[in-house]
Amino acid sequence: MTSRAPIGPGNTPFDMIGQEAAVALAERFYDHMDAHEPALVAVHRTNEAGDKVAPVVRERFGAFLVEWLGGPNIYSSVNGHPRLRMRHMHVAIGIEMRDAWLRCMNAALEHPSIDDDVRSYLRRRFAEVADFLRNRAEP
Ligand code: HEM
Repeated sequence: MTSRAPIGPGNTPFDMIGQEAAVALAERFYDHMDAHEPALVAVHRTNEAGDKVAPVVRERFGAFLVEWLGGPNIYSSVNGHPRLRMRHMHVAIGIEMRDAWLRCMNAALEHPSIDDDVRSYLRRRFAEVADFLRNRAEP
């Protein structure tokens, strides 16, 4: 049995999957959203037809992912600190939106470029952050 360093500082998800896979993860995430989650598409900036998330959103989230996974700071050097809760306040995020978002991300994570340990680690981390971004009281 091989033992590997745990995921964390010094062995980040970015170290394990690399920039190409990180950017491709963002692309698959929005591909899934465009194809399967119209209510989620509708709260994003869209293309002119209004049926797909705009390329600028893909680019910003792709840059964020590279940085958040442990890569170079290509998001914050342009946009400043992500301040995720603040940047999501204009969107009503309840349980349904959270779960729709996570369906897209979990589908995007099902890909051979994502190492199994990284996949289960990221599923957990994304679930935590998505829950933290809920900003509407639910019954
Ligand atoms: C919980 C459900 C979520 C919903 C409904 C949601 C929705 C949105 C929307 C509507 C935008 C604005 C896109 C635009 O400019 O039109 C956005 C941007 C963004 N989201 Fe989320 N999001 C969610 C979760 C997350 C999570 C979990 C993360 C991080 C792990 C995240 C990271 C970002 C980033 C980095 C941006 C770009 C901010 C910027 O620079 O403009 N989001 N999201």
